[in-house]
Amino acid sequence: MIANQTINLDSVQEIVDRYGGNKSKLIAILQDIQAVYHYLPAEALKKVSQLLKIPLIDIISVATFYRAFSLKPRGKHVATVCLGTACHVRGGPKILEEFERQLQIKKGETSEDGEWSLESVACLGCCAIGPVVVVDGNYYAHTTIRKVPTILEKYRK
Ligand code: FES
Repeated sequence: MIANQTINLDSVQEIVDRYGGNKSKLIAILQDIQAVYHYLPAEALKKVSQLLKIPLIDIISVATFYRAFSLKPRGKHVATVCLGTACHVRGGPKILEEFERQLQIKKGETSEDGEWSLESVACLGCCAIGPVVVVDGNYYAHTTIRKVPTILEKYRK
């Protein structure tokens, strides 16, 4: 677990104002909140619900539908290793193990310092370039165990 982060509800208000309090911009608003906190804190979602006059349950439905959103604290960086069939047979599990070893966290965990979260996915839809790893939205094709330190280094600066 990472340390609890204080939620600044004024910043949530600013984000909603940025979109003119427009309900149809909910996804963009959630993206901006997640960019600040690296996840969607419950207090922030309640504030969005009040400001946009959208029931909280509807906001949570949207937040859980899109894989890009997280309701749990996440690290500053998110590494996702594909374990779909095509990536699995080309070494996906070994690559995941290497990420676990290098980051010293298990799949589904976030590092103590809040820098890294490690996740897996069933298929990213680009099997031909597998094994695939995604870090902060950047795709790495034909990944090998040896490439893992180089990938991580890019985000450690
Ligand atoms: S199995 Fe990895 S991208 Fe499809």
